Amino acid sequence: MCYAIPGVVHSFEGNHVIIDYYGQQKKAINELTDLAVGDYVYAQGGFVIQKVSPLEATETLNAWKDIFFELQDTDETLAKMPVHNSENPRLLKIIDRAQNKIQLKDEDYLYLAELSDEKDYNLLFKSANFIRQKYQQNSCCVHGIIEISNCCSRNCHYCGLTVDNDSLERYCMTRDEIVAAAEEAIFKYGFRALVLQSGENCGYSISELADIIKEIKQKFPVLIFVSFGEMIFDELQLLYNAGARGILLRFETSNPELYEKLHPGYNLATRIEVIENANKIGFLILTGGLIGLPDQQPIDIINDMRLAKKLNTEMYSFGPFIPHPDTPLAGKQIVNPIAILKAISMIRLLDQENGKILVTTGLETIAPGVRKDALLAGANSVMLNVTPLKYRELYSIYPNRAHVSESIEYQIDETINLLKDIGRAPTDLSVNQ
Ligand code: 5AD
Repeated sequence: MCYAIPGVVHSFEGNHVIIDYYGQQKKAINELTDLAVGDYVYAQGGFVIQKVSPLEATETLNAWKDIFFELQDTDETLAKMPVHNSENPRLLKIIDRAQNKIQLKDEDYLYLAELSDEKDYNLLFKSANFIRQKYQQNSCCVHGIIEISNCCSRNCHYCGLTVDNDSLERYCMTRDEIVAAAEEAIFKYGFRALVLQSGENCGYSISELADIIKEIKQKFPVLIFVSFGEMIFDELQLLYNAGARGILLRFETSNPELYEKLHPGYNLATRIEVIENANKIGFLILTGGLIGLPDQQPIDIINDMRLAKKLNTEMYSFGPFIPHPDTPLAGKQIVNPIAILKAISMIRLLDQENGKILVTTGLETIAPGVRKDALLAGANSVMLNVTPLKYRELYSIYPNRAHVSESIEYQIDETINLLKDIGRAPTDLSVNQ
């Protein structure tokens, strides 16, 4: 779990600690050497990231106490399953099986993906929300992302950062700019988990990236995810040793032929190996794919969901393909946002207890305001863009990205208000936000 309210160390189990939050106990990996029973800590993504003074901890806990339980009540109320009067026996049977944790078959998922009656797919969304609440309660991860460079050596056919796009002005944040952006996100805005992202071979060597991560980790308490594209085992290990504990790398599609068509000269097996290596090293895995790619079949998306689960993903990141005018896929069709909401719900049925599901910026781009619907359809994670404003527009993986010109303050206000409204605890932001 990723509560950023302090918990108290209850006991130790090997390299894990049991942390108590208002009577609820969670387990986290501890890498601090001076931790004892009774200490207050912040944990994030399953890692203890900081010890806090009893004074700070008790003040924060007192400030949170009432709201913590109020939010839980609101969430529980909203997540109740309706007494459904659906006349669709096949749908009811599938939902019933999912709620009883019976594995669904491909044909079941295909059926769900193709639901066209609004009443039917709304029932799917509600069932997914019910399952989300049942197993994961009301915590909602709020991570920040800093896009450190838009330079890229790859030629992905869908992506505006492709090396073949000559019309894009390129940038590479300096080391000082990256550290300053991280500091601002952590100390000014209260983020405790940050993704650092760039195109592949963005201009920094792996050892330079490792040094930047080391500096951030030495200075600030934060869980760092890296998202710099593919790299070999030793490079991943270097970033892990520097202090990164998560990796965001989508496999994009689980269909090897489609993968090779979209990424000439590259192959899916290599990409999967990178994710598997990262998992072996101990990184938290964030992965997923694109939905609505040209020539993609419904079964491909089911396979994508299953592959993400097989890769031991901590957080599922599935978003729509959005055509970029300066790429070979310019002018192609955009998928209906309902298809993405259905995918979110189906992932929730597939990975009920552990998987966090991200509401992607891509989805918000094709359907402004959809974040609430996604959170009520099984999702429980959002990522806010904390890249300095002057660079954000240049990170144009697809056009008109949602939130591209919104200040961090504005994004946080909107997010907190929405989460409060639907009873979710913004557990990755410090509580004074
Ligand atoms: N539409 C949607 N998502 C895209 N990405 C890149 N280009 C596009 C696009 N045109 C996504 C990829 C990549 C992530 C950083 O951005 O899935 O993994």
